[in-house]
Amino acid sequence: MRTALIAGNWKLNKDHLEAIHLIGDLGLRLSNLDLGRVEVAVHPPFTDLRTVQSLVEGDKLPISLGAQHCSHHHHGAFTGEVSAPMLAKLQTRYVLVGHSERRAMFAMDDQVVHQTAKAVITEGMVAVVCVGETEAEREQGQTLAVLERQVRSAIAGLPDNVADDLVVAYEPLWAIGTGTAATAADAQDACSAIRRVIESTLGTATAGSVRLLYGGSASSANAFELLSGPDVDGLLVGGASLEAQSFCDIIAEAIRCYR
Ligand code: PGA
Repeated sequence: MRTALIAGNWKLNKDHLEAIHLIGDLGLRLSNLDLGRVEVAVHPPFTDLRTVQSLVEGDKLPISLGAQHCSHHHHGAFTGEVSAPMLAKLQTRYVLVGHSERRAMFAMDDQVVHQTAKAVITEGMVAVVCVGETEAEREQGQTLAVLERQVRSAIAGLPDNVADDLVVAYEPLWAIGTGTAATAADAQDACSAIRRVIESTLGTATAGSVRLLYGGSASSANAFELLSGPDVDGLLVGGASLEAQSFCDIIAEAIRCYR
């Protein structure tokens, strides 16, 4: 049975001092919750990773460490980049790969997404591959075709036994940061389509084990319904993960759903 993953994507927010406060607050609140089958992860900016890792390890917090991106190169003349091996050394467990903001603003195409996912998995971490359609693509009825192209390209050539090293997040672009989340039915339909693509590429067993997340204006008000979809195994939360209270309210909904 798949566990749930509630992951907070901090984006370009929180310096390392603010991160100390947020993780401290989160740790306290999580200690009052019985997480059961719900896993919690945070994806802070690179400069916070060491700090967050020390807090999580020192206080034995039930929080997995995630990064927001990494280079598909291992080392070399790539000014400003951070490699997968560097993240692995910091005990990073999850790395977002191909978030739509990276695709749109930093020229990350399907091929680079694929190479980055491979680099992350090779280092023993979990690639959280983000896919999703634009509003225009949705209006033209291309949602499933876009998802199929993005997923197929990202996972091509990955070994069949990659189930524990791969998470796919469905994040429709029109829902990110807009306050308008997809309906639970749309999120379920998209995740079910994604699972079918994984099945046709990596086989039934792997497809049945890979966790699929929904992301885009997730909040405590819609979390339970979104998570009720049989193919939706968690949430990638942006804005609502920046405060411990709102993030924990979502986690509490996930616990209720996965009880
Ligand atoms: P949001 O962001 O929850 O603020 O819409 C989600 C994301 O981009 O991962």
